[in-house]
Amino acid sequence: MPDLVVNPSGPLRGSVTIPGDKSITHRAIILAALADGATYVRGWVPAEVCRATLRAMRALGAQIEEHEEAGGAPALEIQGGGGGLREPQDVLDCAGSGTTMRLLAGLLAGQPFTSVLTGTEPLRRRPMGRVADPLRLMGATILGRNGGKLAPLTIRGGGLLGIDYEMPVASAQVKSAILLAGLFAQGETCVREPGPTRDHTERMLRYFGVRVVASQGAVRIEGGQSLKASGRQDSLAGAGILEIPGDFSSAAFPLVAASILPASEVVLRGAGLNPTRTGLLDLLADMDAEYTIEIGGPGAAAASAWVGEPSGNLVVHGSVLRATDAAGDLIVRAIDEFPIFAVAATQAKGTTTVREAAELRVKESDRIATVAAELRKMGARIEERPDGMVIEGPVRLIGAVVECHRDHRLAMALAVAGLAARGQTVVRGAEAIGDSFPGFVEVMQALGADIHWREDGAAT
Ligand code: S3P
Repeated sequence: MPDLVVNPSGPLRGSVTIPGDKSITHRAIILAALADGATYVRGWVPAEVCRATLRAMRALGAQIEEHEEAGGAPALEIQGGGGGLREPQDVLDCAGSGTTMRLLAGLLAGQPFTSVLTGTEPLRRRPMGRVADPLRLMGATILGRNGGKLAPLTIRGGGLLGIDYEMPVASAQVKSAILLAGLFAQGETCVREPGPTRDHTERMLRYFGVRVVASQGAVRIEGGQSLKASGRQDSLAGAGILEIPGDFSSAAFPLVAASILPASEVVLRGAGLNPTRTGLLDLLADMDAEYTIEIGGPGAAAASAWVGEPSGNLVVHGSVLRATDAAGDLIVRAIDEFPIFAVAATQAKGTTTVREAAELRVKESDRIATVAAELRKMGARIEERPDGMVIEGPVRLIGAVVECHRDHRLAMALAVAGLAARGQTVVRGAEAIGDSFPGFVEVMQALGADIHWREDGAAT
């Protein structure tokens, strides 16, 4: 298992393109496979979790070809089956991907056959009752371990009826699962969310011509609608073009790194700027971080390929940060960014608090426990709370050997902490980074970070 070796680094400088958004990639693969006609997906991210969705959709009958565009950008050509999927011959392996498992649970609840979803040991520990419960209310049969709450999940779908469902937790994955099931249900399905979660599914359903109505915290979809690819002006060999914006959650790592390393000046090109995702920008603004946003710019899609997702460039300067308080809607809007936010907070003057964030305990790792434990090894003053953390800063971090608990975002956050530390940091088992940001090390190196891979046990 390769380790990541990180040495203290001076200012970061330069301009990099942010790779495709993983949340949007999952949805593009699933929805294009359901559509009538072909879709050419530009700029998808070949992250491990997205590959899990791709393999599962192939096992369900989708025809998907991988391409590489001039310049090396990855693309997919997906021949939609017009909504017709076939019973998979084997168990569907979702790897470590909660999004794959939950979105597919919704999709498969609508199919008149039996399928089984499983994944890695950490994924099999994550709560699936939150998605199985509403799908059962719609009429699907879902069996799982621990009384149907844990994967492997066996799903016997079909014959669904629309529901009006109030989600107990604010989860875009659960909302998306219900909407996907709702596409195949009789009548209207309505999902009510306690806080505004990412709306990529709604935006992409609209791109494929499906009517989805969102207002006042409720999203409604009428069952039986079909998805349509193509029909667009500048289509490529008859395929509709769908362009994936850069992943804001990937941009978050160089964004914070540049913010905490004095005299840095970086441009992050083509980052997704969907407001349901950019809570970290609000938190950083409150911390006095210096950045500007240029809407559009390279990476912005042509009008016909636009999936309704805003994107742009982030220009970031090193700054002196001060503490802030994160709670409420900001938690959902920055849900994946707390490992790296915690690193920013260690460098900010004062006491930073994260509250109302118990959801962090059921992510790829228990991110309250793992972030606190690993950053403490580097000298951070950080305490766990049942629903968040308290971080004192600024602290001069010290390089250490740290574990990433098979959590990609924790691995990248620790690597960024290592850049700001005194002495060398080794992030063990950091190959988990490939789950969402396969080019992380190269992007950071391009900005001048002293970071490289080392085979386990080898000398530095
Ligand atoms: C995701 C939604 C979030 C997020 C995850 C991806 C999605 O999970 O943490 O990384 O693509 O819908 P929840 O919706 O369960 O909070």
